[in-house]
Amino acid sequence: MAARSATHVLLPSGKRMPLHGFGTWKAERGETKRAVLAALNAGYRHIDCAAVYFNEKEVGQALKEWFATSGVSRSELFVTSKVWNTCHATDDVVSACKQSLSDLGVEYVDLYLVHHPYAWKFHGLPISENNWVLRDDKGDITWADGVTLQDTWRGLEKCVHLRLVRDIGVSNYPAVALMDALQYARIKPAVNQCEAHCYYQRKELRDVCARFGVHLSMYSVLGSGKRGPLQDAVVARIGREIGATPAQVLIAWGLHTGCSVLAKSANAGRIAQNFGAQRVALSAAQLRELDALDRGLMTCNMVEYWAFPSHA
Ligand SMILES: NC(=O)c1ccc[n+]([C@@H]2O[C@H](COP(=O)([O-])OP(=O)(O)OC[C@H]3O[C@@H](n4cnc5c(N)ncnc54)[C@H](OP(=O)(O)O)[C@@H]3O)[C@@H](O)[C@H]2O)c1
Repeated sequence: MAARSATHVLLPSGKRMPLHGFGTWKAERGETKRAVLAALNAGYRHIDCAAVYFNEKEVGQALKEWFATSGVSRSELFVTSKVWNTCHATDDVVSACKQSLSDLGVEYVDLYLVHHPYAWKFHGLPISENNWVLRDDKGDITWADGVTLQDTWRGLEKCVHLRLVRDIGVSNYPAVALMDALQYARIKPAVNQCEAHCYYQRKELRDVCARFGVHLSMYSVLGSGKRGPLQDAVVARIGREIGATPAQVLIAWGLHTGCSVLAKSANAGRIAQNFGAQRVALSAAQLRELDALDRGLMTCNMVEYWAFPSHA
């Protein structure tokens, strides 16, 4: 079996980020608290959140209950949040961060990310279904005039100086935006969180991140609930060979790349099963078969979410 020993990655602040994280996107109102508690009880110690998931308050309720009953301290948990596109101006980043801390009920987040490299017009806080985007009369997104990604990064750096966050990074940054950020950053981005899975392996982006010392975190590693790698016949067959579910095979493949992996479920049984993927070992031959599944299939195409081709 191919060896895979690392379970954490060391970030610049000195905090160790667990490589296997629990996702909270599309965790519905009323089910988020239950799902996060199930994840924590299953063993997850890395929870991935964002203001635009509209559920940070519920995540906060779960964290509060769990800290009170588990005896686990805040320092043993890794919490990520992300600044939304409408809060890219330097001071808005700080306000948005404070809002997320208040909703999550924590004094700091371990990692704070620029959610997308797009600056839209500010439309109020907290971020909700009613204000996450401001459209003009023609229905087009309104952009934040004059706000650059460097302004946004200064806001994240400010959050570090204010001790609101420990490490900072980016998300959905193509190589060119990441390399530009490395030019103006006084505090270097620690992480780039991007879609990646067996059907969309991002080998070139992974190489760029590795070359510049930026850790790549893979999201939607199960294909985000769409038809994709989870239904793949090769993945299912490899699972049968080693007594693992297709989801476990996909998570184990992701972990094997050395990247961190984020997977979401609202179902306690699947959450526990997914967490168990950390113990799944794949042979070199199985890894080669999984590597060969790459077909550039993006499941989180933003055209579907806001009718703008973000990945163009
Ligand atoms: N930075 C970004 O822009 C960004 C974008 C997307 C995602 N993310 C992060 O990454 C996390 C994961 O990505 P994702 O939520 O898009 O998708 P995902 O984790 O790839 O897939 C989640 C889907 O898979 C299903 N599922 C989970 N475990 C399963 C299992 N064992 N067997 C069968 N189906 C299973 C879930 O359904 P059930 O819930 O019913 O189990 C859900 O429909 C997100 O939650 C979020 O935290 C970040």
